[in-house]
Amino acid sequence: MAASSSIRPVSKADPDVVPPTISKKRQRTFGPGRPRSFFTAFNTHTEKIKSSLLAPMLRRLERHESRVRCEDARDLDLVSGCADYIIMSPPYFTAHDYVRSVHLELLALGMCSVEELHELRVKTIGYAGTYGSPISSLGLHDCDSTIEDIRERHEQRAQMLCRYLVQMRDVLSECKRILKPQGSLVIVIGGSTSQGLTIPTAKLITELGSSIGLQLGSVPVVNAIRSRGFMTRRNVTAGVIEDEWILRFTHSERGGADPRFT
Ligand SMILES: C[S@@+](CC[C@H](N)C(=O)[O-])C[C@H]1O[C@@H](n2cnc3c(N)ncnc32)[C@H](O)[C@@H]1O
Repeated sequence: MAASSSIRPVSKADPDVVPPTISKKRQRTFGPGRPRSFFTAFNTHTEKIKSSLLAPMLRRLERHESRVRCEDARDLDLVSGCADYIIMSPPYFTAHDYVRSVHLELLALGMCSVEELHELRVKTIGYAGTYGSPISSLGLHDCDSTIEDIRERHEQRAQMLCRYLVQMRDVLSECKRILKPQGSLVIVIGGSTSQGLTIPTAKLITELGSSIGLQLGSVPVVNAIRSRGFMTRRNVTAGVIEDEWILRFTHSERGGADPRFT
């Protein structure tokens, strides 16, 4: 983690990759200018990580065996009904090009080759470069009416939204498969705007969930987002993320909560 966080601040930008930008907040942590060397940055990050890990709250936690896996969320190598809790923050519709914003780190750490970047991008949910979906609706009221509203303004954006929702339905189905009968799936997701229209992502995800047998287990929690600290510049038509929701789903057989999104 420390190495990955140190690459961007010390980079002078390889001409083959998009020049990295550093947020003002990030710059302040290093004082004026960029750190002089990779090791200066690395030591700063290591110290920060060390002090986070020594926080009293973390030290009191019980130790359990853990494993980091890197898999497509739509196809997890996990047995059915194994998870007590799933917590995820999936991509928001059109919010961000994740591969673009971390490709410098991926390449520098040798986690990916230039050729593999494209493959990774295509696998990324919500990737804006692959237009369309063979289907144009989902047969769900809120999802389809949002797609149609966008279609009146921009056909390709409507196809992208449809594709995003189909991908998210696959993620939810995979979560449902691995969730224990008494388990919970917690999703943090933001709303966004596209073509001047609000995309009520949390509401659409809730509708997708209920179509596959997942229901809200508690009333959704909303948070207004103040920071716009994206690392890479976004297209002006992509809109801003205005709110962030925390949704907790359980298997539908357990009964649901009031899905209020106001
Ligand atoms: C809103 S961000 C959440 C970031 C995360 N909370 C973190 O702190 O690293 C969404 C993440 O979903 C990842 N993602 C996109 N498509 C995915 C897929 N098919 N399978 C698994 N993760 C994916 C993106 O790369 C991005 O890191």
